[in-house]
Order: sequence, then C-alpha cells, then structure tokens
Amino acid sequence: MQVATTIPSARQAVEQARAEGRRIGLVPTMGALHAGHLALVEECRRLADYAAVSIFVNPAQFGPGEDYDRYPRVLEDDLRMCEAAGVDLVFKPSADEMYPRGVPDATFVEVPGLSHVFEGVIRPTHFRGVATVVLGLFEIVRPDVAVFGQKDYQQQALLRRMVEDLHVPVEIVVHPIVREPDGLAMSSRNIYLDPDQRRGSLALRRALEAAVAAVAAGESDADRVRQILRSPIESEGAAVLDYAEVVDALSLEKLGRIEPGRTAVALVAARFGKTRLIDNARLTE
Ligand code: PAJ
Repeated sequence: MQVATTIPSARQAVEQARAEGRRIGLVPTMGALHAGHLALVEECRRLADYAAVSIFVNPAQFGPGEDYDRYPRVLEDDLRMCEAAGVDLVFKPSADEMYPRGVPDATFVEVPGLSHVFEGVIRPTHFRGVATVVLGLFEIVRPDVAVFGQKDYQQQALLRRMVEDLHVPVEIVVHPIVREPDGLAMSSRNIYLDPDQRRGSLALRRALEAAVAAVAAGESDADRVRQILRSPIESEGAAVLDYAEVVDALSLEKLGRIEPGRTAVALVAARFGKTRLIDNARLTE
C-alpha cells in the first residue's frame, strides 16, 4: 500500500496503475474508519482493480462551532485498516495541499437546491464544502468509479447531481448503510454519545422501521408516515428531533403521497446533546 500526502505523488501512483490498464476506484473519507467505511472499500475493490482511499478532514465542510477541531484523527489505525482491507493507495493531503489559497478564498462548487434543504438548513455551507472537496479529489485521482455510503443520503444525491451537471466521467456507486448490531448506523461521531444518548439513539432506527412497515402494509399518505417517523424520536428523552421527512429519492422533494413509480425515502435527523445523528431508509423500490 502506498501512502501519498501530496497531489503530484498521488497522481503519479494512480497514473502508473492506469497505464497498467487497471480500473481505478476511489473511496473518499474523513478517516476514523469503521466497518461502514470498510464495506465501501470492499465494494470498491469488487468494482475496480486499484482501490484508492482518501483521508481528509475537510475544513470547508465544517461550519463555525462545529466539530472540526475535535473530529477524531487516528491515522495509524486508519492506515492499518486500509492495509488489511487491500487498499492500494491512501491519499492523505494536508489542508494547505487541498486549499492552496486557504478555505476563505477557495473556489467553490455550488449545487443549488440540494445544498440548502435538510442538512443544508442547519449547516448552510456544508454541502458546498463537500462538493468542492469531492470534485477536487476526482480531479486528482480521476477515478473510474467512486463509492459513497447511503448513510449520508443527501450527500450522495448531491454528488450524483454535481457529476451529472459538470459532466465528470466517474461512475457513482452507493453502498447500503452498515449498522451496529443493535441497529444504530455506524458513524465516526457515535463515540461522542454518552450511555444515555447511545440508548436513545436507537429511536432513529425504530422510527425508520415503523415507517417502512407502515408503507409495506399499504400506508400511502406521506403525512401519516411523517407522524409515524416523528413519534418514537419525540418520545425519546435524550433526543431533539431536527426533521423527519418523506421525500423523492432523487430530488429530495417532500412527497404528499407515496406512489408506485416514484421511489420514496425517509430521512431523519436528531440531536443527542451536541451530537447530531442522521439516518434514512428507502420506503419503496
Ligand atoms: P465520512 O463521514 O468519513 O464518510 C465517508 C464515506 O463513508 C461516505 O460516503 C459515507 O456515507 C460513508 N459511510 C459512513 N458511515 C457509513 C455507514 N454506517 N454505512 C455506509 N456508509 C457509511 O462523508 C464524508 O466522510 C465526507 O463528507 C466526504 C465525502 C469524505 C467529503 O469530505
């Protein structure tokens, strides 16, 4: 496994693999890797012959007062996990390498609409930071395929839109959510939860399961499904509900009815103390 910290060295490693005729895959991450990330790496190795993982805690996607400074940074563990997972290249740039002009003066990619709903209401500059860094990583690695997690539902929808709008020649693949044995979606931020909040966090999963079951049983009124989503979270003492929504799978528009031919997704977000958790589930195929 090669570890590159500069853009030229990452480019050189990938170009060599490409010259050997290998199909290039990329899994962008912020590190603090867990089994969810590793499932993406596995998928990437299935789809490509050369797997690159980027590890970069991207300052541009954190707002003021968010957890940029305390975001877990455990490079040694991450490198061990990547090595064991058969990763070919880890790209671990510094903030100066990615933002030579500094974040305030950087050129940004804006994906309108999808950036300013749901997570984007609470985190107004988050998605332009995500879109910008991912486009930059695509330009550096030039992957044939890039793998993202369904866990960050809005993020993958936004990145698909960006790639389509900017004609980026990369295939975006989305991997299902990997969960803890008790159902909590794995996240690098779960370590912030105290035992009470950790127990309470299961309300998200319960809410989604109830909604999936209701739709499977024939419920098609999206408002009733929203109520089903809300109640387990609202009755959980440790949680403050941010949103519980039923949306179109591609546009993230709020749905009135759940109908065949238009995939519906439930999105939930809640705060447990200072920690925000998000989760989602497809309601229809
Ligand atoms: P990060 O939170 O490290 O996540 C990296 C990738 O892992 C994302 O595609 C995310 O959706 C996926 N992932 C995280 N937890 C998962 C889980 N439990 N199951 C399945 N996939 C999971 O998302 C980011 O970093 C950043 O915004 C990034 C795209 C790297 C841009 O900076």
